[in-house]
Amino acid sequence: MADGAADLPFRPATPARRSGKPISMPQFLWIAWREPLNMWSDRHFSEPILFGQSALGYAINVSDPAGIRHVLLENAKNYDKGALQKRVLGPLLAEGLLLVEGDDWKRARRIMAPLFTPARTAVLAARMREVSEARVKGWLDDRSVAVINIDHEMTALTFEIISATMFSDMLGGEAAQFERALTGFLDTAARIDPLEVLDAPKWIPRLGQLMGGGMARFFEKRVAQLVADRRAIIEAGEDAPDDLLTALITARDVEGGGTLSEREVACNILTFILAGHETTARALGWTLHLISHDKAAQAHVQAEADAFDLANPNWEDAMPWTRAVLEEAMRLYPPAPSLARRAKEADVICGQEIPANTAVLITPYVVHRHKLLWDDPDAFKPERFLPGNREKIDRFAYIPFSQGPRICIGAAFAMQEGMIALAEIMKRYEVDPPGEAEPMPSHRITLRAKHGIRLRVSRRE
Ligand code: HEM
Repeated sequence: MADGAADLPFRPATPARRSGKPISMPQFLWIAWREPLNMWSDRHFSEPILFGQSALGYAINVSDPAGIRHVLLENAKNYDKGALQKRVLGPLLAEGLLLVEGDDWKRARRIMAPLFTPARTAVLAARMREVSEARVKGWLDDRSVAVINIDHEMTALTFEIISATMFSDMLGGEAAQFERALTGFLDTAARIDPLEVLDAPKWIPRLGQLMGGGMARFFEKRVAQLVADRRAIIEAGEDAPDDLLTALITARDVEGGGTLSEREVACNILTFILAGHETTARALGWTLHLISHDKAAQAHVQAEADAFDLANPNWEDAMPWTRAVLEEAMRLYPPAPSLARRAKEADVICGQEIPANTAVLITPYVVHRHKLLWDDPDAFKPERFLPGNREKIDRFAYIPFSQGPRICIGAAFAMQEGMIALAEIMKRYEVDPPGEAEPMPSHRITLRAKHGIRLRVSRRE
């Protein structure tokens, strides 16, 4: 039940969908720059695959779970991430785990995987809870109700968690600078620049890169300082914290003993800071927005939060609604809304032959709202993810963390963090819509809210 309308689920506002008519190159470039979500037409949400000539060259949109399985898992070795993604994120993250390919990727993933085992992730739960509690308990000071900028709060919270757990607090207190620089970067350098789509010569200046240059330099300088500070501790023979930063600097590959280059270390630090907090912040923000409109779901989450206890080794199983609202929020608003791939060799996807170099788009935002895959796709129905229903969902129809070998390395970390943060919030507060226009999603690498998410937060009795 939502918004007081008995038995009617909440259906959040969605961006306009394009008519199915083909669009010209200038129209494509304009939409891609302004709001890529407006690129999708009704056909994308009702046909399993769409292919043909597009502004990106020959391209195929795959929403069929069997086709997604083929590209991301069964024939994953035939697909790389394609040039556009690398051109957009490359200046900052080129040699980080998210963008590297082939043997370099295998080596880097082998080095980092031990930091993300279930046992290692579970150990971080207590620290995640402490940081969450410290961040949210002062939201209202001595007021009983206030309108809070939830996006800002969630970004600060997840930044502090990544700083505490992966960098032993060495970035503590810098959330605000990082938030400003990241928002600036996503709004400028990381947008789909028409010149990049057209593969224009490098000497033609890119507006976005020029505008985002200062932000990129901020990140590079800060990361260089971080590495220098930690290296000094290691070289002085002092006990260096056992965290991601030390692991990156001292990494030795178990196969062949190779290390990471200076540039790889820097790109990975930035990859983990950015991929490791921005996505989870967006997932939490959208979750709070959705449950502010669904009081029944919110009451379930509050009841679980009241009983939340990390001393219970099965605490996650004791919180099915908390998990379900997060998962349903990531269905409607996948923090990484689009996965781009390029076929290295010719292939066949769902019976469709594709030539080498075809751009393959798998778009969680479209797949998760696809009419052939979901009942009432645009409605918020967390029950879909409760035990008993969850098992029926095809794991290639629900892909917020992708699938196959390139699946998000931090997926379990993010789910654990999201559940703990939500519990610490719901234990204390009630959230309601603030009576302003509903937030609209906007594709800026991640799925952000166009003007941010603000909620009316009141202290629970
Ligand atoms: C709700 C939170 C998150 C979501 C929705 C998310 C989503 C994703 C997705 C979809 C990918 C695959 C991208 C592609 O194949 O093109 C990915 C990769 C990655 N994610 Fe996450 N992520 C989240 C949280 C995290 C966290 C907490 C970390 C680190 C602490 C992290 C680190 C990474 C890294 C390093 C990769 C690249 C992995 C590889 O290619 O081997 N992510 N993530």
